[in-house]
Amino acid sequence: MRNIAIFSSGSGTNAENIIKYFSNRETGKVTLVLSNKREACVLKRAVKYDVRSLFFEHADFYSSDAVLDLLLKNKIDFVVLAGFMLLIPENILSSFKGRIINIHPALLPKYGGKGMYGERVHKAVLANSEPESGITIHYVNRFYDEGDIIFQAKCNVLSGDTPESLASRIHELEYAHFPEVIERLIEKLP
Ligand code: GAR
Repeated sequence: MRNIAIFSSGSGTNAENIIKYFSNRETGKVTLVLSNKREACVLKRAVKYDVRSLFFEHADFYSSDAVLDLLLKNKIDFVVLAGFMLLIPENILSSFKGRIINIHPALLPKYGGKGMYGERVHKAVLANSEPESGITIHYVNRFYDEGDIIFQAKCNVLSGDTPESLASRIHELEYAHFPEVIERLIEKLP
């Protein structure tokens, strides 16, 4: 049984979906939820499921081993970024090589990079009249949205789509695929 930590900066609907999925699996369990936003909804969602949830300060993340120590102390095997908006510092990347993944709400390498998150991604996709969009799950490195791609799923962009309607179709794809991709990866961990 692997221990999963989720980092999230906002609402945390993906985090909740992953927590629920792993609540009755033998492969893994979400045992820690971390956020850089004190008021993030994701922290309240985690509490509902009795998952330890903690806020951390920006300075602790980048200028100390405080967050790394939390991961190690909680015996975390695998780290999932679900709506997390910061780059992961080198100390955590090097301790969790091949064990940190992110989900992005578009078909990378398009529509990624710094500042490309949430609604901004969907607005850009619509502004360019893309016929399709989707989700990308990828390994995390020290650049925004550039790690090796693990999985993609597509959906059509419909005429009349708004950023909200596209976001909701993308969220459905995320809910359907993200937990299973995580499970496949933790099953293969050495
Ligand atoms: C998700 O759609 C995720 O793909 C996106 O933020 C949303 C978080 O929703 N992530 C990014 O844009 C990262 N660049 P949630 O908080 O409801 O899970």
